Amino acid sequence: MHQNEFPKIERAYLVGVHVRGTEAALDLDNSLTELALLAETAGMEVLGQKTQTLNSIVPGTFIGTGKLEEIQQIVNDLDVEAVIFDDELSPRHQRELSKAFGNDIKLLDRSALILDIFAQHASTKEGSLQVELAQYEYRLPRLTRQWTHLARQAGGSAAGSGVGGVGLRGPGETQLEVDRREISRKIDRIKRDLERVRVHRRQHRQQRQKTGVPVISLVGYTNAGKSTLLNRVTNASVYARDQLFATLDPTTRRMDLPSGRQVLLTDTVGFIQKLPTTLIAAFRATLEEITEASLLLHVVDISHASVAAHIEVVEDTLAEIDVPPIPRILVWNKCDLTEDSGIPTFADSELYAAQVAVSAVTGEGIEDLLSAIERVFSKRLVRMSVQIPFQRGDLVAKLYEVGRVLHQESDVDGTLLDVEIPATQEAYFADYLADSSD
Ligand code: GTP
Repeated sequence: MHQNEFPKIERAYLVGVHVRGTEAALDLDNSLTELALLAETAGMEVLGQKTQTLNSIVPGTFIGTGKLEEIQQIVNDLDVEAVIFDDELSPRHQRELSKAFGNDIKLLDRSALILDIFAQHASTKEGSLQVELAQYEYRLPRLTRQWTHLARQAGGSAAGSGVGGVGLRGPGETQLEVDRREISRKIDRIKRDLERVRVHRRQHRQQRQKTGVPVISLVGYTNAGKSTLLNRVTNASVYARDQLFATLDPTTRRMDLPSGRQVLLTDTVGFIQKLPTTLIAAFRATLEEITEASLLLHVVDISHASVAAHIEVVEDTLAEIDVPPIPRILVWNKCDLTEDSGIPTFADSELYAAQVAVSAVTGEGIEDLLSAIERVFSKRLVRMSVQIPFQRGDLVAKLYEVGRVLHQESDVDGTLLDVEIPATQEAYFADYLADSSD
């Protein structure tokens, strides 16, 4: 339903600003390198970039007048079609800059670019709804007469989907107000639809929890290699590409650990610095998958110059979506790309139950990773004695499936078992605790 907003190979120019005294996850150069990758992922050709260091953002035009004129000149000389700012532009910046560059130049910021990539990659109904919601929420405050006019011409592209058909004005209402009202209505409708998806997802998750198979969630900065790792350890074939945000919808695969223990592995959307908050909010349902996992594999690209910043961004984003203190393993992926075989020491070792260097491509270190996973699970096992009524043979079977049965005997009331099971399963069998005074 979403179309690529950009025709193939659009000529783009990047603009980045550093405000003195502020600290960003990535320095300006690395942030712009990432922005260039995002632009290329969206099908654009980056012709160059301009940066400026300021004491504070200029209220009207974001950058200083002199710098703006320089960029206008370049835009003319190089036949630039799109100017992309690395930071989110306020509605006022958007307005003033659009005026300065003129209607023929597409003015984008990092958020709009990420939203467009997400729109291109959403493949399920849920993914599309989430992106659509984020797009409307991003655009609502930025709606201008000029924008709605363009949206109508676009005739239902991702930029203007559905807005164009609205015509009925209430008394004294401007077309802009009508459009705003209509978009607000659409936002409400999408939220209702998403709530239904969320309920369904929750039921599905509860069902999964009942099966007792623990869930491991892959998290990480975009392009760290999560999908490749999922493929490697489950022999699945999940879309993995050298692209930012190749995976948008969660994918879950079953996997056997060397001990025979079964686990489910879920791959979710990658994180990135300056991820628009509207997007995080829109993806809450998908991200809830992470909060319910028994273990997180935080995958990082060891060969990336900004890996330390990536780790920080991912941990910050996890905190932002209220992920509880789930045990984590830090997976230093792409170790085939580094000379140094050691694990860097800068990550907060307290935070991670283990740190392992792997290559999802060559398979190096994968066995170590599986052992580390086993160790985390075996540490979190609890022993209990239960008495299961004869008619609940399914529960006995489940105990064998999820844990280790240390002793079994029967009496008139049922089957007595001493078992060792994951702590996450304890509550499930709490009603069947054997009387310890026996
Ligand atoms: P998003 O969908 O953006 O979140 O990315 P992802 O984390 O799922 O990364 P993905 O698995 O799509 O991999 C990104 C790129 O890195 C692909 O080109 C992979 O082939 C490459 N890659 C992944 N793991 C390794 C590795 O261990 N070594 C090398 N050399 N390349 C890798």
